[in-house]
Amino acid sequence: MNHYVKLGVNIDHVATLRNARGGQDPVLLQMALAVEEAGADGITIHLREDRRHIRDDDVWLLRSHLRTPMNLEMAATDEMVRIALKALPKACCIVPEHRREVTTEGGLDVVNQLSLLGMQVAKLNDAGIEVSLFIDADMNQIQAAHDIGAPVIELHTGEYANAATPEQMGSELERLEEATVFAQGLGLVVNAGHGLTKFNVGAVAAIDGMNELNIGHSLVARALMVGLPQAVGEFRAIMDRACL
Ligand code: PXP
Repeated sequence: MNHYVKLGVNIDHVATLRNARGGQDPVLLQMALAVEEAGADGITIHLREDRRHIRDDDVWLLRSHLRTPMNLEMAATDEMVRIALKALPKACCIVPEHRREVTTEGGLDVVNQLSLLGMQVAKLNDAGIEVSLFIDADMNQIQAAHDIGAPVIELHTGEYANAATPEQMGSELERLEEATVFAQGLGLVVNAGHGLTKFNVGAVAAIDGMNELNIGHSLVARALMVGLPQAVGEFRAIMDRACL
């Protein structure tokens, strides 16, 4: 059980706050470097089609200054793949994207988009970018992700995080555990994320073989109270304790 789970910190909402006034404050790069310094294993940013938080110039600036791997979340569009192939982040996580959503809703439907996703995954694979597909804990989706050549999946933990009762939370956790076993059996690396908080992250970190958790909203919200370095440290400590 004693394993290390990487913590990827999603800093989109630092950019959301900056964009609220149109200036530079808070300076995204400075915050990203502080997050790294505090022990994060990587920085995740989602370049959305509408650029509502992360902007193109953020991608380039972070790309040249980050010390940890950059994980670029994006939709599987030609525009985003073009940007990824230029920026060459360490990793790309392909997510579904709808203009009116508040945040990413549900995982990708890989089963019904085999050729589009397969083509985009191949381009990113060929460029040496580690591609992951953000999918629900569904065996058919996992099998399809494997079949189109994605080396990594990120399991959507939203259903687990939003569970209304402890029983529902338990059964969602079981789904995540079973999905992880199945994916690992296919040779896939398994990450997870969405809706994780200090209160629910431990059980997901404890899943045997979990590689990385990507956490954004709740960590940045906590940082308003205690500062980013401490918020990162708190999540790190909870994850480490859960994996002992
Ligand atoms: N992983 C993916 C693929 C996401 O789209 C998001 C949300 O941007 C996260 C992780 C982080 O989710 P949250 O902000 O709820 O922690």
